Amino acid sequence: MAKPVALVTGASAGIGYELAKVFAENGYDLIVSARREERLQQLAEDVGSLCSVDIVVADLGKARGPATLLEAVAKLGKPIDVLVNNAGIAASGPFQSLKRSQVKSILQVNIRALTELTYELLPDMIARESGKILNVASVVSFQPVPGMSLYAASKAFVLSFTESLSEDLKGSGVTSTALCPGPTRTEMVADIKNMELAGPFMSDARQVAQEGFRACMGGEVVRIPGLMNQAMVTWSQYQPRWLVRFLSGLAARNSFNSVNMGQTKASMPE
Ligand SMILES: NC(=O)c1ccc[n+]([C@@H]2O[C@H](COP(=O)([O-])OP(=O)(O)OC[C@H]3O[C@@H](n4cnc5c(N)ncnc54)[C@H](OP(=O)(O)O)[C@@H]3O)[C@@H](O)[C@H]2O)c1
Repeated sequence: MAKPVALVTGASAGIGYELAKVFAENGYDLIVSARREERLQQLAEDVGSLCSVDIVVADLGKARGPATLLEAVAKLGKPIDVLVNNAGIAASGPFQSLKRSQVKSILQVNIRALTELTYELLPDMIARESGKILNVASVVSFQPVPGMSLYAASKAFVLSFTESLSEDLKGSGVTSTALCPGPTRTEMVADIKNMELAGPFMSDARQVAQEGFRACMGGEVVRIPGLMNQAMVTWSQYQPRWLVRFLSGLAARNSFNSVNMGQTKASMPE
């Protein structure tokens, strides 16, 4: 019997790398995608004894990136059982200080690519009355974050889209799940300024991936890994918005020196 197939974007590092491993450990074949081929080869070596791994190098920051990935997936001829939209990038600093290329890349990777991949792969899942979409959002999906405004807004999009989609898909046999991690030890947040402040909220990428897998398999709509993160999100929903945006900006500025946006580092504002 053919194994089910999970397509994981951003599988070359961090949460995506761990998600791919967790799917492999749970009986899935993999199609993994990112820009760094050597990292994907390493992943294929790590899980090669468990499952088959197809590698697709695609830059989702380019307008044609999603189409490149979808064409390669179509050539493989394997139906996708789970789409994991994990690839994401961040930039920090006041919005007006971001480079035009950063703005375009965040919109393209975090919103456009995720939406296009979902739109194009859904019809086949619906026709087969079976499938799962796992979108990686964030705790910042729930609140504005001054100093990371575009990133937080892009993750608010992911959460809102995924929740609405889950209702649109009711009765279709297809589910959609938003995984909303708090700060997680990956390349994206490697440069921590204040460990005492950030430490209690920091998660491990593997634990986040395991929670994401379980939530996806259970058809949960929203999963926030970690008690501290759940408490913070719940607390913030009962506070005035001026207080939430003031505190989230303060926390972001004082927790990290920079966030890693692919190859470039963006400094946090003082
Ligand atoms: N770390 C956190 O604190 C945290 C918290 C909440 C949510 N998240 C979300 O979790 C997801 C994974 O983040 P992470 O922390 O694991 O980050 P990461 O370690 O920086 O990994 C990001 C992944 O996305 C891929 N990617 C980036 N730009 C791409 C592009 N243009 N085209 C294709 N792939 C691209 C990267 O691969 P290549 O560079 O090889 O292309 C890499 O595999 C993101 O959606 C992020 O927003 C992270």
